[in-house]
Amino acid sequence: MTKKKTGQMRSNTPTTAPHVADALNYADTHQKPFLAELLELLRIPSIGTQPEHSSDTRAAADWLAQAMRNAGLENVQVFPTAGNPWVYGDWLHAAGDVATVLVYGHYDVQPPDPLNLWETPPFEPNVRDNYIYARGSSDDKGQVYAHVKVVEAYLKSIGRLPVNIKFIVEGEEESGSPNLDACIRDNKKLLAADVVLISDTSIPGPEEPAIVYGLRGICSVFLDVTGPSHDLHFGSYGGGINNPLNAICHIIAKLKGEDGHVQIPGFYDKVRPLTPEERKLLARSPVREAEWLKETGAPEVWGEPEYTLVERTGARPTLDVNGIIGGYTGPGTKTVLPSAVHAKISMRLVPDQDPAEIAELFRRYVSEIAPPSVTVKVTTRSGAPASIIDYSIPPMKAAAAAYSEVFGKEPVYTREGGSIPVVNQFKKHLGLQTILMGFGLPSDRAHSPNERFYIPNYYRGIKTIIHFLEKYAQLTK
Ligand code: BES
Ligand code: MN
Ligand code: MN
Repeated sequence: MTKKKTGQMRSNTPTTAPHVADALNYADTHQKPFLAELLELLRIPSIGTQPEHSSDTRAAADWLAQAMRNAGLENVQVFPTAGNPWVYGDWLHAAGDVATVLVYGHYDVQPPDPLNLWETPPFEPNVRDNYIYARGSSDDKGQVYAHVKVVEAYLKSIGRLPVNIKFIVEGEEESGSPNLDACIRDNKKLLAADVVLISDTSIPGPEEPAIVYGLRGICSVFLDVTGPSHDLHFGSYGGGINNPLNAICHIIAKLKGEDGHVQIPGFYDKVRPLTPEERKLLARSPVREAEWLKETGAPEVWGEPEYTLVERTGARPTLDVNGIIGGYTGPGTKTVLPSAVHAKISMRLVPDQDPAEIAELFRRYVSEIAPPSVTVKVTTRSGAPASIIDYSIPPMKAAAAAYSEVFGKEPVYTREGGSIPVVNQFKKHLGLQTILMGFGLPSDRAHSPNERFYIPNYYRGIKTIIHFLEKYAQLTK
C-alpha cells in the first residue's frame, strides 16, 4: 500500500487534473454547512490541560469521529490514552500505486483565561467581519476541520481521493503530546504513510502564503524556591532571613541578559548556525517590524541585535518566564516574608539542542547561582526537540504549487517559533517528513483572548489542500 516514493518521483511539473474542479466546486457550494459545522465543534470546551474538562475533550473526540465518518472516512476509531484520546480514520482506496498522506491535527485547546477580556464568550463562536471568534478557531480546530471537509469534497463529488489518506487528531498537543509518542510507536502499521500533512501554523498575511520548514523545540521547567518553613512577619525577620521571592528574582535575572542572550553555560553549544544561504532565504519572509508593533502593542521589538526578527523567533533559542507565583497579591498591603515561591520557565530550542541536556544545564546553573540562604528545586516538565524539514523534497514542491494556485502567489519559506512535538515523533517512529501547510494568521491571537480564524482562509485552506493532494498524487504516481 505505502511505498517508498523518493526514488520513484517523476520530475515533470504537476498539472491540474480535470476532476479536481469537481471537488473544488463542491467546496465552493458547501461553504455554509462547512462553516456551521465548524462552529458546532468550537462550542465544545475541549481544554486539554484541565482535568475538569476531560469529558469535554472526550466529547470533542467523539464529535470529530462522527464528522469524519460523515465525510466518508472509514475505520474511524477513538483511541484512549492515559490522557485525552486521539481519533483515527482512513480512506485507502485510491486508484493505482499512489502515496498515503497522514493528516495530523489537534482538537484540544488552550485555557481561555482571562475570561473577562473576551468580547464574546470563548465557547460561543461569534462570526463578525469575516472572522470566527472562539477559542480553538485557528489553533487548531478550524485548520484540522478543513482537512475533514477536503475528504468530503472529494468523496461526495467524484467519489474518490487522488491519494490514500489517514487521519490522526489528538487531544494533548497543547500539553506537549505526552502520550502520543508511545501511541505512534505502538501503531506503526496503522499509521504508515509517505508524508505527514499538518495545518497548525500560520502564513504571514491573508494573501501571503508560506511554507514553514522549521519549528522550535521546547524545554519547560518549574523552579521552586523555599526559605523559611512558614511565612514570617516582615518586621521581625526582614533583613535577617532571605526572602525567596527576592532570591527567585535574582536567579531569574541571571538567566538571560538584557541583550537577549541566555546566560546558562553551554546553552548555545549545540545550536546549528544559520548558513548565509538560509539567512538569505529567511530575509525574504515578511516579518515586518511595524506590523509586529501594531499587532502586539509593544513599544518596540527586542532581542539579540545581530539577528533579524524572523531569525530571533524562528532560528534562535530563547528563555522566558511564563509565570511567577508567590507572596501576597491581594488588596492592600501585607507585611509578610513568604515561605515559598514558584516560577514557570520555558526555553525555546533550535536544532540540535537536546531538551534533556538543556534541562540539566539549567538545573546545574541554577544550583550554582542560588544563594545558600534558600533551597531551590528544579522540575523538568515537557520537552520536545526542534524540527527542521528539508525544503527541497517533492511534497514541498507540491505544497508550494498548491498555495500558488489558490493564493495567486508563490509561498515564502520560513521558520516559526512555536512547537509541534509530534513532528519529531513522526520522524523518529515512522521515518516521515512533515509538510506544515498552515492557514492561520499572526493576528489570530492564538492562546490569547479573542482568538479568531479568518473565514476566507478556511475556504482557501480547503482548496489548497485539495490541490495539494492532487499534485502530490501526480508526483508519486
Ligand atoms: N499550533 C501551535 C504551534 C505553533 C505556534 C506553530 C506558532 C507555529 C507558530 C501549537 O498548538 C502550540 O501552541 N504548541 C505549543 C506546544 C507546547 C505546549 C509543547 C507551543 O508552541 O507552545
Ligand atoms: Mn496548534
Ligand atoms: Mn497552540
